[in-house]
Amino acid sequence: LKSPKIIFKNTYKTLDSWSNIPEHIKAKQGRKLFLQNGHPLCSLRELLQRQFRDKSINCVAKESPVVSTITNFDSLGIPKTHVSRSKSDTYYVDKDTCLRTHTSAHQLEEFKNLAESKMSKKGFLITADVYRRDEVDASHYPIFHQMEGAYLWDRNDKAGMLRDLEQVKLDSDLQKLVIDEATLKDHNDLQDIYSLQETQIASIHLKNSLVLAIHNLVLMTPDNGLDKSQVRYRWTYDSFPFTQPSFQLEIFWKGAWLEILGSGVVRENILTQAGIQNHVGWAFGIGLERLAMILYSIPDIRLFWTTDDRFHKQFTPNEITTFQPYSKYPLCYKDISFWIDESFAANDFYELVRDVCKDLVESVDLIDQYTTKAGRTSLCYRINYRSMEKSLKNEDVDLLQVNLRKALASSLNIQLR
Ligand code: PHE
Repeated sequence: LKSPKIIFKNTYKTLDSWSNIPEHIKAKQGRKLFLQNGHPLCSLRELLQRQFRDKSINCVAKESPVVSTITNFDSLGIPKTHVSRSKSDTYYVDKDTCLRTHTSAHQLEEFKNLAESKMSKKGFLITADVYRRDEVDASHYPIFHQMEGAYLWDRNDKAGMLRDLEQVKLDSDLQKLVIDEATLKDHNDLQDIYSLQETQIASIHLKNSLVLAIHNLVLMTPDNGLDKSQVRYRWTYDSFPFTQPSFQLEIFWKGAWLEILGSGVVRENILTQAGIQNHVGWAFGIGLERLAMILYSIPDIRLFWTTDDRFHKQFTPNEITTFQPYSKYPLCYKDISFWIDESFAANDFYELVRDVCKDLVESVDLIDQYTTKAGRTSLCYRINYRSMEKSLKNEDVDLLQVNLRKALASSLNIQLR
């Protein structure tokens, strides 16, 4: 594993009106959960890497999350106006520098490494922490982890492509669990440069490789945690500026379809930018928390960040076991109401809650909203407080709520009620 030596704090240069990285994010730097032996995210990284072991690929971990906006967005063809670039979705160090929002930020760099090695490897797996401003609930956390994979063929090596395809054939039992709503039938949605046949081979190889990898992990999961007879996989079309065609994989889990990855046939212009000519291949990006929550039956995303031994002592490196819930501490909620104007962005509010209350908030729900005849809008949010580590005292929660109100009044353009 290569590890860049940049320390997050030292990368701060001049702050400008784009800088929006709060203390609670800075405080998490250096935890490296995905490299912590025995941590479920580290085991999942290792177990996924093993699924691709017989493919000739580089496995890389990226440590510093600080990247240029060119790297995170432009190099992938993400338009200047794309919502993901907004200050309410992304953490910025300054106007031109942000915390990576996905592992795709490192695609170009790793494709360049393949080109420099004269294609001595056929692909890569990159694991890293990624950052997005988002809502507060049991499945969203502003830092999460992704694994990015890619695999390429020389376009002249049709025989090699067909051989690889044969290697990832699904047996009929597994095939029955897969619903493919994104089968390519004609030339719609192809890149001009690639033939239908090449695109089809790459797409099927992509889909089968991923279903095989994930299903193998499902098979490693203890029966008490997961009802394997219920597991289903579904492919649907998706859209990314750096792949075409693009697919999404969903997994059916406890009665609901959950998105777990985005993927597709790599845009040829990304390969040529990296100095790779006449190749075709696929890429995917999978969220590790969501898959780990399914496989390990982990009910709350904050648990990945806990320092409670009762969490960490449960796990054996590179094994999947069912999380044994330990006593939950009591929940305590407080409501907060305020008038907003058109400058209000919900993510700014969630961010403030995380900043003031750290991981003591389990979720934030909008419970009431109304607009007066005069056109003023009032929101009421319920803040659900619960610690993962201790029983919160009433006065602690009261103090948090007071601090939250103060911070809200002073930093957002709202009027408390
Ligand atoms: N980066 C995309 C995301 O985070 C996922 C993706 C990776 C899609 C690689 C296509 C190819 O949603």
